[in-house]
Formats: sequence, structure tokens, C-alpha cells
Amino acid sequence: MPRVLDEKTKQALKERIRYYNELGIYDFYRQEITELLQPESAETSISEPMTPRAKATLTIAPEESDMFSNPKPEANIADPAAALRVIREDIGDCTRCRLSKQGRKQIVFGVGNPKADLMFIGEAPGADEDEQGEPFVGRSGQLLTNMIKAMGITREDVYIANIIKCRPPGNRQPERDECETCSPFLMRQIAVIKPKAIVALGAVAAKTLLAINAPMSELRGRWFDFRGTKLAVTYHPAFLLRDPRQKGEAWKDLQMVMKELGMKPPAKSGE
Ligand code: URA
Repeated sequence: MPRVLDEKTKQALKERIRYYNELGIYDFYRQEITELLQPESAETSISEPMTPRAKATLTIAPEESDMFSNPKPEANIADPAAALRVIREDIGDCTRCRLSKQGRKQIVFGVGNPKADLMFIGEAPGADEDEQGEPFVGRSGQLLTNMIKAMGITREDVYIANIIKCRPPGNRQPERDECETCSPFLMRQIAVIKPKAIVALGAVAAKTLLAINAPMSELRGRWFDFRGTKLAVTYHPAFLLRDPRQKGEAWKDLQMVMKELGMKPPAKSGE
């Protein structure tokens, strides 16, 4: 039984969508919803057997479906650098989650080539990043920079960002709701940059992007599909600083990425 939205529901839906847009969310799943409804007359009574629930399909009329298709502010901007600037402006001086009130100095948006083939995604800015406004500039960042150099490229060739853009107090792990509030902006950055491959650095980045809960042993050494883009997982540089014996394993992950992108490591001096 198709249902058309009444005025009140339409208004409420519009407001809810505007609210999501303000959070940076523009993508909605629009598949038909099959609802389970109780028939109007069905009153639950212990003496009567329960009437089976009727199925109804919620049909969104074409003019109502326009509500779902607010274009993202960057939608018609062909130049990725300009589109990224629009996303940054959209974030503004963000107060969408508690981190804005917990001592973050600035928003750490992302850095690198807006047309990069390769994107690295970490967890959250630390103290150095919060100070400088750029991801991966502290000790972990130096290691990441060296890992990128070992691949025969530079930081300027890739794009580097984090799941969340503000430093959590005391460098604690981001909370789930903080990731959910902030990551739509990262999704929009990825959509603009259109990398050929993404490397998720560490379990938090991998689990947030892939929406799965699996140990690193099951995440590494294989490709995932992330909204049509290849995604590999490797150890977070901070972990490698704590356990340098795992650097060889991380290098294997990066070699898998290089093979996929047709990259060759730089020749060692003397070769
Ligand atoms: N760790 C991260 O995950 N991101 C940074 O930007 C710095 C350290």
C-alpha cells in the first residue's frame, strides 16, 4: 500500500534534512523503505491471536524526493582545490561536537595535493597538529613523511587527513559520536580528491571508514572497497614508534599500494 507524505511529515522531514546538511551530510540512502505496520483496527488483546503485521511501502513522490537532493556546496566546482576550500568554509569555526569546547586550538582540515592518487587517513590531530593546523607534523608525522619518501614520492604528492579534525583532550581516542559528526566532511574531501587508493592508518581510521570491527591482523594485507575506491590498512605511525619491529610489516602494506598504483621505490644510492 503506497503512502504519500502529509504536509506535517514533509515539513518535519525537510527540517531534519536541513539539519543534516548543516552537519555536512548530503548523502542519503533513497532505497524504498518497507515498513512494518499494524493494521489500523488491530488492538492487542490477550484473548485474540495477534493479527499478522501488514507491509507497506513508503513511496516518495518525485517533487518530495527533491528534498533529498540538495546539492553539496562544492558540487559544481570543477577545480578540486577550490572545492576543498568550499568544504573548509562549510566547516567554519566548528562547534558541532564537544571537542570545540575541550581545548582544541584549531581545526586541522587536511593537507597535500587536491588531485592526489593516494590519500592517507589517520585518526585525529595531536598536540603538534593542533598547534600547527596541519595533520601528521609531530613525531608520528615525521615517520609518516619518511614512509611516504620510501615510496619514492613526497608529502606534497599525496593528501593527508584524519577521521576527525579536532584534537581530543589528552590525545584520547575519538568517541564514536565525534567520528560520526566529523567524518561527513572527510567523505566530501575524498569525493572531491577522488584518489585511486586510500591508506587507513591504524585501527580507528580503518574501523570508522569500513564500519567493521576487526583486528588489525584481519584488516592488513588486503584491499577493501570504500565507496568504489580501493582502501588498504596499515599500522598507525604512532604504533610503529612504539614497536619499530613492525616497520617491515608496514612496508609490505605500502608495497602492495605501490604495486596497485604502478609505483616503483626509488633506487638506492649506488644501484
Ligand atoms: N596521529 C594522527 O592520527 N593524526 C595526526 O594528524 C597526528 C597524529
